[in-house]
Amino acid sequence: MPTYCITGTNRGLGLEFVRQLSQSPENTILALTRSLSSDLGPLKEAIAASSSPANTHILECDTSNLLSIHTFSKEAGKILHPLGKKIDFLLNSAAVNPASWQSSLSLGPDDLSHQINVNVVGPAKTVEFLLGSDLLAKDVRILNMTSGLGSLSVSSGIKPRKCAGYSISKAALNMLSVHQAEDLKAKLEGAVVIVMDPGWVKTRMGGEGAVMEPEDSIQDVLRVLHGLKKEDNGKFFHHSGETIPW
Ligand SMILES: NC(=O)c1ccc[n+]([C@@H]2O[C@H](COP(=O)([O-])OP(=O)(O)OC[C@H]3O[C@@H](n4cnc5c(N)ncnc54)[C@H](OP(=O)(O)O)[C@@H]3O)[C@@H](O)[C@H]2O)c1
Repeated sequence: MPTYCITGTNRGLGLEFVRQLSQSPENTILALTRSLSSDLGPLKEAIAASSSPANTHILECDTSNLLSIHTFSKEAGKILHPLGKKIDFLLNSAAVNPASWQSSLSLGPDDLSHQINVNVVGPAKTVEFLLGSDLLAKDVRILNMTSGLGSLSVSSGIKPRKCAGYSISKAALNMLSVHQAEDLKAKLEGAVVIVMDPGWVKTRMGGEGAVMEPEDSIQDVLRVLHGLKKEDNGKFFHHSGETIPW
């Protein structure tokens, strides 16, 4: 009876995680959203159509805001502690790519800071605060959603290069994950932290030219996630299950 915690679930791949995972009445889901004032219509519809709507809890968590992440971790404790549950799968899906046209020669400092805040500091503090609140299971699986653009090897082969600030933030997320993989193991022996590239997917971020449907991408991602072994800790996966060079 696993518990999932997913960031950025009001749309995109986060929403698709909720759609698929809420089909099983066994799953408890914490569905996080940047703001409870956002349009939560599609998320609420997905929950209403699920097998057991009461098992999915919508919570506010703005991953660019430390107070918001901290408040969320306390709220999560109020839900999970009385149930005797901890988070088995933490899926850090929320991210931004606000200035895809910027190159390394035209980086906007505010845009870059925002991407680092949401895409890197957010997953770091989410893990830290949940660990501090004793909410991570001893064999927790943590998926930090990255991109092929965060791979130095892959990115160096792409011409013309694109999304400089976003790529920098995802490369930083990859490095964060390598550190988390080791640091967390010292606290939770069975923890596994990975990064995964979901493919180029038709969401607001992926755009209309993308090649994959969200349902296919997330089916793949969940297959890899559920097959993870202890020795996969600290690896960079493609949604197909292949590993990607750093
Ligand atoms: N789609 C692709 O082709 C693709 C490719 C490679 C990697 N990825 C990665 O896959 C993940 C999901 O991407 P996506 O395609 O679903 O993107 P998306 O459609 O743009 O959705 C992004 C989600 O992140 C949330 N978010 C943004 N800033 C936030 C914040 N400060 N706090 C909390 N939530 C925040 C958004 O909420 P709001 O609506 O409130 O802003 C939204 O729910 C990301 O990590 C992305 O980098 C996607």
